[in-house]
Amino acid sequence: MARRVYIFDTTLRDGEQSPGCSMNIQEKLEMAKQLERLKVDVIEAGFAIASPGDFQAVKAIAETIKDCAVASLSRANEQDIDRSAEALKNAVNPVIHTFIATSEIHMKHKLKMTPDEVLARTKAMVAYARKYCSNVEFSAEDATRSNPEFLCRVFETAIAAGATVINVPDTVGYTTPEEFARLIQYLREKVADIDKVILSVHCHNDLGMAVANSLAAVKAGVDQVECTINGIGERAGNAALEEIVMALKTRNALYDVDLKVDTTQIYRSSKLLSNITGVGVQPNKAIVGANAFAHEAGIHQHGVLADRSTYEIMTPESIGLKKNTMVLGKHSGRHAFEEHLKTMGYKLTKEELDAAFAKFKELADRKKVVQDADLEVLVSQKQVEIPAVYQLDRFVINTGNTITATAAVRLRKDNGPSELIEEVATGDGPVYAAFKAIEKIVGHSFVLEDYKVNSVTEGQDAQGEAYVRIRRNGRIFTGKGVSTDIFEASVLSYINAINKMIYEEKLEAQV
Ligand code: KIV
Ligand code: ZN
Repeated sequence: MARRVYIFDTTLRDGEQSPGCSMNIQEKLEMAKQLERLKVDVIEAGFAIASPGDFQAVKAIAETIKDCAVASLSRANEQDIDRSAEALKNAVNPVIHTFIATSEIHMKHKLKMTPDEVLARTKAMVAYARKYCSNVEFSAEDATRSNPEFLCRVFETAIAAGATVINVPDTVGYTTPEEFARLIQYLREKVADIDKVILSVHCHNDLGMAVANSLAAVKAGVDQVECTINGIGERAGNAALEEIVMALKTRNALYDVDLKVDTTQIYRSSKLLSNITGVGVQPNKAIVGANAFAHEAGIHQHGVLADRSTYEIMTPESIGLKKNTMVLGKHSGRHAFEEHLKTMGYKLTKEELDAAFAKFKELADRKKVVQDADLEVLVSQKQVEIPAVYQLDRFVINTGNTITATAAVRLRKDNGPSELIEEVATGDGPVYAAFKAIEKIVGHSFVLEDYKVNSVTEGQDAQGEAYVRIRRNGRIFTGKGVSTDIFEASVLSYINAINKMIYEEKLEAQV
């Protein structure tokens, strides 16, 4: 029988640490629900001690997710472990994940600890975590640059103290497939009782080998792979979940392992993450890139028409990418709309469907044909909607190449009809003028870290998605706006970022 390999998803922890990928609690919770639909084995929900927001997110995910284990990261100290245990208190299947660095470089320069001190801390903290939780994962940070003999001693210590998962991170993305496979074989031979625990790997992509290294480790016998959706993560990212899973499935005869993942949820998971963070994937990205299943060259098209297997090693359907033939427009009814969403993998509650249908009708009035990409944006936006203190009532922008851009923006505050506030501002360009007018209304100015507009689909009536990243007091907030008018999308994105800031500050004040 095929050996079972567990998928440990760290999109919400290691992934979220990458620039531009931060998410608020509501967004993390929606992403966690999607990971549950994807049927990963473990969701690493965050680093509970990192901030009140992280703690709240881990807690909310632990209380909501039933079908996956939920992990929280902790350094090897009591305060971190206490915080993780508190956040995971109500989880069905909690995992405390604790780590300490084991390479000479990290022990000397970062921890300023001797190897013996690292061993003692490993023993004490794994045992401490075990008092709270029967599942404890131990990671040796920078394992691939550690002395292999010392690494064996650390892992034996962790196992003796009660660790149930031993993780081997390639923290700086330094190893290569052959070398990593040798290290795994060595650990499997030398570490006492290694066969009594789950052996895991966690690879970073600094040399572009995170997926190859993870697959080499699977071949060498590991039981768990840690990865993220779209490969997001520190620096060049983590190993991409979709690439690992589809490689293991497509080349099953070679790897002979069994996974629980529902691959038909891969595309939707990737899209939801991009829609939430505004960080898309490059068109030629394996599995989920826009061109991953597109055949451009005539010779390829000819082959695919004759038989798909000529140039396709996996089907678009296997990752949940369906070609819908039904076209939606302003005459489409609620039933057709609902059925269409179902074919795209979305099953909405009655309330969600009502709200999505109302938005769809508004959009269909502006756009002749509503495409699947429009619907994805519409549904994912609804899923992560937060209470909006400010809403756009109207705006007017006056611009040209011989005048200073001026914007008048009127916002509704707290949904009150009498609370309409209007301000006018000038700026270096129409969008900047509108942002300045909004800042006058809310009474704060922000540093604009990033602003971009993408088109959701092709065509003259395509919707534009605007993303902003703003900073206040060292904290970053992202906002998104979608409209067929890019100025409106930009204004909406700025308001969305400000509403998220207010929402997060309110939630954190409750901790
Ligand atoms: O890359 C790394 O070493 C980590 C550990 C905390 C597992 O993310
Ligand atoms: Zn990592």
